[in-house]
Amino acid sequence: MNNPQIITDIVRQAAAKARQEVMNEPEPALTGKLEWPVSCTVGPGLEGAIACETKIGYVNGTRGSLIYRGYDLFDLCAEATFEEVSFLLLHGNLPTRNELDTLSRHLQDYRFIPRTLRLIMGFPVQDMIPMAALRMGTNLMRQFQTERDQMSMAGSGGRQIASDEDSHSMETVPRGDQKAVFEFQERDANRPDPARIERAQAEAHGIGSCYHLIAGVASLTAAIARLRGGRLPIEPHPELGHAGNLLYMMTGKRPEPVEERVMDICLTLHADHGMNASTFAAMVVASTLSDIYFSVGAGIAALNGPLHGGANEAVIHTLREIGSPDGVAEWYRNARANKSKIMGFGHRVYKAYDPRARVLGPLAEYLVERSGREDMRRLLATAKELESRVVSELGEKKGIFPNVDFYSGIVYSCLGIAPDMFTPIFAVSRVSGWTARVLEYLKANRIFRPRAIYVGALDRPFQPLAERG
Ligand code: ACO
Repeated sequence: MNNPQIITDIVRQAAAKARQEVMNEPEPALTGKLEWPVSCTVGPGLEGAIACETKIGYVNGTRGSLIYRGYDLFDLCAEATFEEVSFLLLHGNLPTRNELDTLSRHLQDYRFIPRTLRLIMGFPVQDMIPMAALRMGTNLMRQFQTERDQMSMAGSGGRQIASDEDSHSMETVPRGDQKAVFEFQERDANRPDPARIERAQAEAHGIGSCYHLIAGVASLTAAIARLRGGRLPIEPHPELGHAGNLLYMMTGKRPEPVEERVMDICLTLHADHGMNASTFAAMVVASTLSDIYFSVGAGIAALNGPLHGGANEAVIHTLREIGSPDGVAEWYRNARANKSKIMGFGHRVYKAYDPRARVLGPLAEYLVERSGREDMRRLLATAKELESRVVSELGEKKGIFPNVDFYSGIVYSCLGIAPDMFTPIFAVSRVSGWTARVLEYLKANRIFRPRAIYVGALDRPFQPLAERG
């Protein structure tokens, strides 16, 4: 039961089944070079809008397939590690042995974030939602000035201001002790030269910052899980890869090879997914030439919502509320009567079965059996019954099938992870997609700036306050 080869076999079987089922679906139209400006029909929620060109990944909603940099997701899940996939997303190719070793060393170094942990422990993490703590944590990771900050401060003649608690160099000229007000040094009007701007841009969005965030978001997530459980964060394990170390830093136990392998696949599955809401949020922030820490913070904020990454936690609550397969019929009837969205189903792009759910479903089945837990068996049976109801009524008719969030919670539960940490784990993975897409977009950056159609009133005469009823 502990041979990770079993997990690879499960992925291969899921892939074979998926490929057989989607073989006859038509090819998509959304690949190939664009001529700007482009004409497209845009629906509410920017449905159909084309924001940019990309070589990073493609979601084929008709066939229910997903590729990263030309590689099929199923192959990457079966053959690669999350580290290889992150390198692929960021650099465009699978790494050589040397490149992978270098990346792994960087990640190992960046997993140590003691200052950030010291800062975050000053906040009531146990009372915050984990995604709020994680978002704050990515801001806290940005303790030192990026070169961009230094450039703007140096360019304006001011002294450098570090947000790190150990250096308070900003108060320079006390102005009246009683008032405890301080003045910054005078700014001069020198503009920085363009070469410095370019360097600063490189640093503010540099590959080092991407690695720092990929490693740091995992360490932060583990620390948040521990703090919420009343335990202190622990140091990374020097022998473990990204997925194994994440589990270790969360639980304090070295994971079984099978658990490590499953987590690795989960991270690979969630790493990138087209122009989804959180990726777009991260890119919008980056397009202002803000920096990548703020971009990732924006991605985390967007991912938190129940219509996006937050659905994985909501699914587990739904399944527990339903209680057992026997409760599905009535629960589903009520949900449909109230026109409620059923969490873990539906997708803006997929009108076929989400390929990520195709892998996660069988993994959930395997892990539930392996756990031998009756409560997990009941949860899975409830999920299967709910899937069959939803798909039989809405599958053909509306293209509504399980999405990535439907089975991931059962998988994480079997790995001993609490439901409120499901969405942060999604972020641990997606940070590689966010950073890759930000880097790519910045190569030919143009600030995002769509327009809204004004449908409000015009030409209203102004009424002074005294005359308003
Ligand atoms: N349950 C029931 N009906 C649904 C569901 C659902 N989960 N999803 C879509 N529908 C129906 C809608 O009611 C609508 O029906 P109508 O045409 O009769 O009005 C139709 O399908 C289209 O739905 P929209 O809400 O317009 O689809 P949209 O593309 O805006 O939303 C979304 C996509 C947000 C994912 C939606 O399917 C949903 O809310 N799902 C549940 C939440 C969820 O699982 N989110 C995770 C998505 S994956 C991810 O982000 C990581």
